[in-house]
Amino acid sequence: MSTSKEPYLLNVDDEASKRLNLQHDILKRMLGGTFLPSPVVKRLKIIQQSTTNDQPLKTADLATGTGARIWLYSIREELAKNGLNPELHGYDLHDNQFPPANKREGVIFDTMNVLDTDKFKAVGENYHYVHARLLTSVLTVDEWKVAIQNCLGILKPGGYLHFEEIPFGELAIERDGLPASGGVLEKLQASMILLKRDLDCGNSIRKLYEENKLEDISHDTIDLRDCDEEAKQMQNTNARLGLEEFITNAIRRGPGALKRLGFESEEAALTKMADLKASSGTQAYFVLHSILGKKP
Ligand SMILES: C[S@@+](CC[C@H](N)C(=O)[O-])C[C@H]1O[C@@H](n2cnc3c(N)ncnc32)[C@H](O)[C@@H]1O
Repeated sequence: MSTSKEPYLLNVDDEASKRLNLQHDILKRMLGGTFLPSPVVKRLKIIQQSTTNDQPLKTADLATGTGARIWLYSIREELAKNGLNPELHGYDLHDNQFPPANKREGVIFDTMNVLDTDKFKAVGENYHYVHARLLTSVLTVDEWKVAIQNCLGILKPGGYLHFEEIPFGELAIERDGLPASGGVLEKLQASMILLKRDLDCGNSIRKLYEENKLEDISHDTIDLRDCDEEAKQMQNTNARLGLEEFITNAIRRGPGALKRLGFESEEAALTKMADLKASSGTQAYFVLHSILGKKP
């Protein structure tokens, strides 16, 4: 098993759940309300026609996260509209954001570290569709390789692997087309490089798919700049919450973590957070990467 030296950089509490739910709503708008790529739906329909009840369709969402607007519940509606009713499994390193046991509506949740190769081996080639989203702050450059190989290990031949990521290198906060984060975003990106996170993970994932000889690879991007005003306003709130979460977390982890974010003291970090709250007229942007491939 391989584990990251630096802990998960964001929180796993109620506030983080709210932010992840907001992020989910932004992505839903950007994707025109449809999360499932059409090749996946097509493939699942073919498999459903050829499988028996004792071998149900199975979908897994890794690092599934949280809350009411979790990806799994959204795709369940889409799948049902297509006459598909697979078993849905959500895995995460932590279980404290899973819905309460009496509100899981048949979705199965379990803890699993995406880097725990032994556990993935124990699960075996079990799923027809494996999805993971928003791991860019979680995994280092080297860990992406392990995570993708682990995902492929639980995917049946002919099944689809799907990552959706928002690379740090393409985050922007602008006023009148010019950088306007007051340095915070740039510090965050620099600290991500120090922590060996991959600022260009969308392209790196595609390359790893190619190295692992996945078939029918597609790599689509959606830039928030091309989306509607409401999505942009939602992202302004989301970006502020995300940056505050990074700063608050760094304060909690101590002077070393604060320094990596470019702050000499807790006071300097708190001042920057107050500035972020007060600043207006800026627009936060990101680019969503969707990378899909089929296991031979
Ligand atoms: C930014 S959130 C994304 C959550 C969800 N995929 C979504 O789109 O809302 C990252 C998630 O990764 C989980 N996580 C962090 N490290 C992990 C690991 N090594 N293995 C599995 N999950 C991990 C966190 O607990 C958190 O729920």
